[in-house]
Amino acid sequence: MFGDLQVKLRTKVIGKKILHAKEVDSTNDEAKKLALVDPSEGTVVIADSQKKGRGRLGRKWISEKGKGICLSIVIRPYINPTKLPLITYFSSVAVVRSIRGLTGLEAKIKWPNDIMIAGKKAGGILTEVINTPKFGKAVIVGMGINVNNSISSFPQSIKRGVTSLKFELGSGVDIRKFVALLIGELDKLYQSFLHRRFSDITGEWMANSQTMGEWVTVKTETGEIEGMAESLGREGELNIRIAGGKIRKVYSGDVVSVTEGYLRRRYSER
Ligand code: BTN
Repeated sequence: MFGDLQVKLRTKVIGKKILHAKEVDSTNDEAKKLALVDPSEGTVVIADSQKKGRGRLGRKWISEKGKGICLSIVIRPYINPTKLPLITYFSSVAVVRSIRGLTGLEAKIKWPNDIMIAGKKAGGILTEVINTPKFGKAVIVGMGINVNNSISSFPQSIKRGVTSLKFELGSGVDIRKFVALLIGELDKLYQSFLHRRFSDITGEWMANSQTMGEWVTVKTETGEIEGMAESLGREGELNIRIAGGKIRKVYSGDVVSVTEGYLRRRYSER
């Protein structure tokens, strides 16, 4: 299905090699195995289905066979580890650009890695770093996108919070076209990353964020933080202005609630 894409794409790094499997445990695990034996970068691993798809924070990733995109890329950037969160950010931007470009749907990013449409989750990114004995560090970026998935295929417990491109559009999307577009955008943004155009990446991330400028509650390992999501810091952390005006920096967590239009309402009350 994706065999000839790598020839057609003409990208600089991402998608030079595309490996497609019907079923794997997890494309991130396949990409890791590959990174151990193959020093190249840019390889894309795609599967029609995953038996053990993984999400962030030990969660499962469930996607109907052949309906969603489950893919992982292997990259080997020579970069300061503090910049690693930016890899998740540029990948999120690539997904948003592709969704908008192909469907016109207004996809947004929820910090740190959720792709949202109409307030529901349509995709997510799982970035993992491994040390390979022979070839040094490799970064595996896994992307799961609900493309033609039907809502009834998701477990009851998450149905209300998920969506797919097909559900939002009312008609199906060509997965091959989507993958081609996505790989092209990932390739362009990876070049921006390698050329250290970090503020371009965070700027576009913020412009497409559902979180920035909103009143949020973030669940962290040490408790919940409530305040105004103000900006992304230099290491990709979320800066939240809490009551009293201080900034709290959050490096890992989940945005559990977003009160959109909070500021607008507050000012119109005055
Ligand atoms: C999340 O939202 O928590 C991240 C989900 C990432 C899912 C993708 S699907 C392809 C790749 N392989 C996996 O096992 N996970 C990622």
